[in-house]
Amino acid sequence: MEQMKLSAKITVCRYNELSSDEKILVDEARAALLAAYAPYSRFRVGAAARLADGRIVRGSNQENASFPAGLCAERTALFSAGALAPDVPVEAIALAAEADGVPTLAPITPCGICRQVMLETENRYKKPLRILMCGRDEVYIASSVRDLLPLAFSL
Ligand code: THU
Repeated sequence: MEQMKLSAKITVCRYNELSSDEKILVDEARAALLAAYAPYSRFRVGAAARLADGRIVRGSNQENASFPAGLCAERTALFSAGALAPDVPVEAIALAAEADGVPTLAPITPCGICRQVMLETENRYKKPLRILMCGRDEVYIASSVRDLLPLAFSL
């Protein structure tokens, strides 16, 4: 019997340490959360996906009285990018969140289903997807969803 050790690399930095492109993407994610429809959880999430041609596609969580019908911000952004520009790779996605109108102190990290959708995005375009997860003061950066989803399922 042997054990596998799985490791993940996450960069932790502050907003002012980001590149100018990264700052723009983070600002877009923070702006995107204002369009969330979250009357049930009062937890607003914004996402901003940067496409290879420079376009930025926003998403936000959209809830529903029938809870499972709602959609997370990340999938709203990635599915929207897929619908708008199916042939253009997605290179990065930034996330930000507010609970009851207050920015989350801890960086917002994507749910399991969104990680799986991010993995499909990487596989589809054969390019790593950079993920910037924002908290009030710190940003966690993963250079691929593989760092967030070890032993991922794929067909
Ligand atoms: N949510 C997201 O939009 N993204 C995540 O990564 C985690 C959770 C949303 C779903 C729901 O509308 C609210 O946050 C509370 O779970």
